[in-house]
This record gives sequence, structure tokens and C-alpha cells, in this order.
Amino acid sequence: MTKLFCLLVLSISVLLRDVTATVIFHNKGTVSGWDSINKEHKGVVEEVTNLSYEPPTSIKCIQTYDSSYTGRYHSEVVKNNVYKRGDTGFYGFMFRLSESWEFVDQTYNIAQFIANFGDSGCDDYIPTTMVWIKGTKLYARTNAGPVCPRSARTTTTFPNLADVSAGVWHKVEIQANWQSDNTGFFKLWFNGVKVLEKTNVATTLQDGRYYQFRVGLYANGWHDDGRLVGSQTVRSVWYDEIGAGTTFADADPDQW
Ligand SMILES: *[C@@H]1O[C@H](CO)[C@@H](O)[C@H](O)[C@H]1NC(C)=O
Repeated sequence: MTKLFCLLVLSISVLLRDVTATVIFHNKGTVSGWDSINKEHKGVVEEVTNLSYEPPTSIKCIQTYDSSYTGRYHSEVVKNNVYKRGDTGFYGFMFRLSESWEFVDQTYNIAQFIANFGDSGCDDYIPTTMVWIKGTKLYARTNAGPVCPRSARTTTTFPNLADVSAGVWHKVEIQANWQSDNTGFFKLWFNGVKVLEKTNVATTLQDGRYYQFRVGLYANGWHDDGRLVGSQTVRSVWYDEIGAGTTFADADPDQW
């Protein structure tokens, strides 16, 4: 009888979870509370107190170009198990480029959803959605199709979503319905204004595993282009109020 009662309570709470707001995670600009921190080469990820969107702290991510290095340039904080295929969620954060940011025709990724496909036989970590800066513009993409072969995947880039300024805080929020057939959707708000809405689209790969959500500076252009464009070899981006959940408010840095 007691067992039956417990089962009943469990079933009801599982049902309720689907209809009420659920916070997946919140981080108020601290280096604690993440599953891992990915710092490559001379990368730095640190908590600072002299700059924040909401005091007292923010996360400062730094990368330094090195012409004798051929690896990648991540400086990211990582939250595991944020979405899997079939989920719908909201994901938000504040970011600020350094006041002396040199805007160049090269990509600097600032957030991504990614999973380890080392078991696939054709790749290792594969990002689905990425969000980046190129010149003064914000870009995003989705990535769909089979995991293997790599050539069968379809990345869809959404360019010129917004104008990004140096030295000011910007707000990004994404809502995604993660589907590998064309029943998904993908929306992005910049500073509270919806700048992208794609419906009836595939938004993730044909695989059921969990993806990480990462924010941080990933200077992917330095690796992918094999060179530095412009002259700014040290790049800093700050992050604050990073969140994910099942309602807009769960992930809106101004609402939690
Ligand atoms: C924050 O502190 C660091 C280290 O003391 C300093 O280099 C930097 O200029 C400060 N930044 C601001 C915005 O005050």
C-alpha cells in the first residue's frame, strides 16, 4: 500500500514537472557551479568583482593568439545535460566584449551547445547550435542530419542577427525545440527583441544523447583560418546571469 502510494506521488510529480516552470540551471557569474571549465593553451576563465551585469561578480574569459600554436582556443564554462532531442527549452546569458574589442572579419564564438561523439567513429565533439560575433554582427546556426558521415550534416547559418557593441552588456536568449526532423523551432532574442524565428525546421542531430551548454570565448577563427585577422592578440569577453529552463523567465537574466 505504501509502495503504491509512493508510486502515485512520483507519477503525479513527474506529470507536474512537465506543465510547471522548471529551472535547468542558473549561474550568477561565478566559476563555481559548472560541470567543467575548458581552458586551452593560454586561455583564462576567472571570476572578477570589478565588473558585472549584476554585482558582485562576473566570469571573464580571455584568449591569447599564438602563431606557433596549431590547436583550438577555448575559454569556456560548461554545463552538462542541458538538452536532448525532443526537449524544448530557453537558454539565456549576458555578455560584454572588452571596451577595446577590435571588430574584424573573423569569427569569435561566444556560446554553444555541444556533445561528445567520440563513440561515433567519425568525429569527437560536435556542436549543434553556436552563437558568434563576426565583424560587429551577431550570428547563430543550427546543425542537423546524421552524426556520420560528417558531410551529410546540414548547418544552417543565420547571419546579421544584431549589431554588437564593445564595452556594453548585451542579452541573448534562445528558445529551441530540439528535433532532428522538420518539426523543431529555433528563436533568438537580442537585448529582449526577437531577431530570429524559424519554425518547422530540424534543430539537432539524429541522436538521443544529452548536449552541454557552454558560454565563453572560443576564438574558433584563429584555428579554423590558421591566422589572426587584425592586430588584437588578446581578447576578453565577460559573462553574467547564465540560465536555462522551461519558461522565458527561467532564462532571462533580468527576471531571476
Ligand atoms: C579590473 O581589475 C583588473 C585587475 O586589477 C584590472 O586590470 C582591470 O582594468 C579592472 N577592470 C575594470 C573594468 O575596472
